[in-house]
Amino acid sequence: MNKQQSIPIIETDVLIVGSGPAGGAAALLLATYGIKALMVTRFNWLAHTPRAHITNQRTLEVLRDVGVEQEALDIGTPQDLMGHNVICESLTGEELGRLHSWGTSPERKADYKNASPCPMLDIPQTLMEPILVSNAAKRGTKTRFNSEFISMTQDENGVTSKLKDRVTGQQFEVRSKYLLGADGSNSVIAKQLALPFEGEMGLAGSINILFDADMTKYVAHRPSVLYWVLQPGSDVGGVGMGVVRMVRPWNQWLAIWGYDINEGPPDLPDDEAIRIVRNLVGDQELDVKIKSISTWTVNHMYATKLSEGRVFCMGDAIHRHPPTNGLGSNTSIQDAYNICWKIAMVLRGNANEKLLESYDKERAPIAKQIVERANKSVADYGRIFESLGLMSTKDPAQMISNIAERKNNTAAGAAKRKALREAIHNKNYEFNAHGVELNHRYVSDAVATDGTDEPAYHKDKELFYHPTTFPGARLPHCWLYNDGKEVSTLDLAGKGRFTLFTGLGGEQWSVAAEILASNLNIDIFSVVVGPGQDVEDLFGEWARLSEIDDDGVLLVRPDGHVCFRAFTKCADPHHTLHEALSTVLGLS
Ligand code: FDA
Repeated sequence: MNKQQSIPIIETDVLIVGSGPAGGAAALLLATYGIKALMVTRFNWLAHTPRAHITNQRTLEVLRDVGVEQEALDIGTPQDLMGHNVICESLTGEELGRLHSWGTSPERKADYKNASPCPMLDIPQTLMEPILVSNAAKRGTKTRFNSEFISMTQDENGVTSKLKDRVTGQQFEVRSKYLLGADGSNSVIAKQLALPFEGEMGLAGSINILFDADMTKYVAHRPSVLYWVLQPGSDVGGVGMGVVRMVRPWNQWLAIWGYDINEGPPDLPDDEAIRIVRNLVGDQELDVKIKSISTWTVNHMYATKLSEGRVFCMGDAIHRHPPTNGLGSNTSIQDAYNICWKIAMVLRGNANEKLLESYDKERAPIAKQIVERANKSVADYGRIFESLGLMSTKDPAQMISNIAERKNNTAAGAAKRKALREAIHNKNYEFNAHGVELNHRYVSDAVATDGTDEPAYHKDKELFYHPTTFPGARLPHCWLYNDGKEVSTLDLAGKGRFTLFTGLGGEQWSVAAEILASNLNIDIFSVVVGPGQDVEDLFGEWARLSEIDDDGVLLVRPDGHVCFRAFTKCADPHHTLHEALSTVLGLS
């Protein structure tokens, strides 16, 4: 036996590299769809620091579709407690302003509630990843920890990856039909594919200090997950901004503090970390137990092409940006939701490989959008600093006096108060960017157009969700009723299958769907909405949101995006639906 032959080879349909939000979600989705997959990850366990926490409605919808939403809700911090972003001199010091966040203001609550059956949720990455990965493993995805991806080659039938077992030091190979590169912001896979990127990495440096401290008395009356602390003089030459972030209410926290990127990541001793924490809190006696100290960098980089051949990259591997807007983990999970049903259909022989090309077309614009949004939100803090007069001087004493000027009964004081109010209000683009989270409208060959123009946004498209069934958009949510019990439109869709919605007079669409499902060997779940039908539109919301007549039709992909609609019945529903499905599945 020569050396080459002695390397063990594992065969699987899909190799997933990475067990973060992207890889974990892919592992769970593929297992749920019954696809044979192997997930490998370099380390001994999952995330050891609670980086991501803000979990948006779209992500919870993904979790809901695969039946694990409740696990997240049981363990996360509910939307109401995510409440007020607080800008202050310290947690015990003066407050400069607050902003209702994540849809918790009285005026935005309805927007969020109307948009989705799921709330916003705060769940640290350390708790989210185990939900994804344990359920993936329970459902059949094989998982290997301490397994490092080294390199790959691909041919027309598959991908051969070389990996190293970090326990034994031995190399092994995996032969898979597809490879998912979910290996984070230093992605070896994106590099080996030579994916084109735009932007820059390493624009600024930040330190995460994870600590235990009971802060109930400082925060319980103004619940928030983020307290922005301004302490001029506490850093060199800057405005002294630090963040105190809730991890578990109200006794586990993360202090986020900047470091000079040109100097490299500092080696922060615990006593220095405790000093930073106590200063930010404003309590020199606070009982602080440091749990860990880690660093991360602010990046502004996105891939303009996400895949090459049989290898698809996802998550931070293709979009690298700061935590502002809380989009990283969310988008990573949603990348997985986009690609996994497509891979499943291709592997089952229900779709042509062309379907996979739609991943790039649909997700690359989102990668760019979120990287730009997150970085703009960082830049927008400059407006708060300017409003307080922190940009016109480097002298900390002057900065402190400039901040205090807002308390004066003078024209300058009034101007400062107004500028500060407006600058804080502008942060709605970070903390209530509902449109950024839900307005995804895919344009690709996996969406059959209906000849209409994309509907205009009548309100700000970053701040507000605009429900539409325009092909490519996410299926709007509303409650329908089955035997008086409510069921979301989104609950009727998903589950790895296509869903067809029609109404009274549209029964021919359902008949056509049944025949097509059998001919194409795919699953199409048909729902007739109307009095005495499968589900009833008791509040009349579906009639408005569906944007079709009773005898029209909506065809929804397994990832909840509308891929075809007809406003009314047509002469040959079978032919029309066949054309639409063939387009979507790349069979035409
Ligand atoms: P991630 O980096 O999480 O995982 C990569 C995986 O690949 C790991 O399992 C790693 O071990 C593995 N890996 C890497 N190289 C490998 C190799 N060669 N071989 C084998 N395995 C390999 N996001 C959000 O949505 N809401 C939020 O509130 C926040 N907040 C937040 C705060 C802070 C302080 C930070 C730093 C970040 C956030 N984020 C966030 C962003 C979020 O943490 C980030 O976007 C996700 O972790 C990205 O998930 P991925 O799975 O893509 O990569």
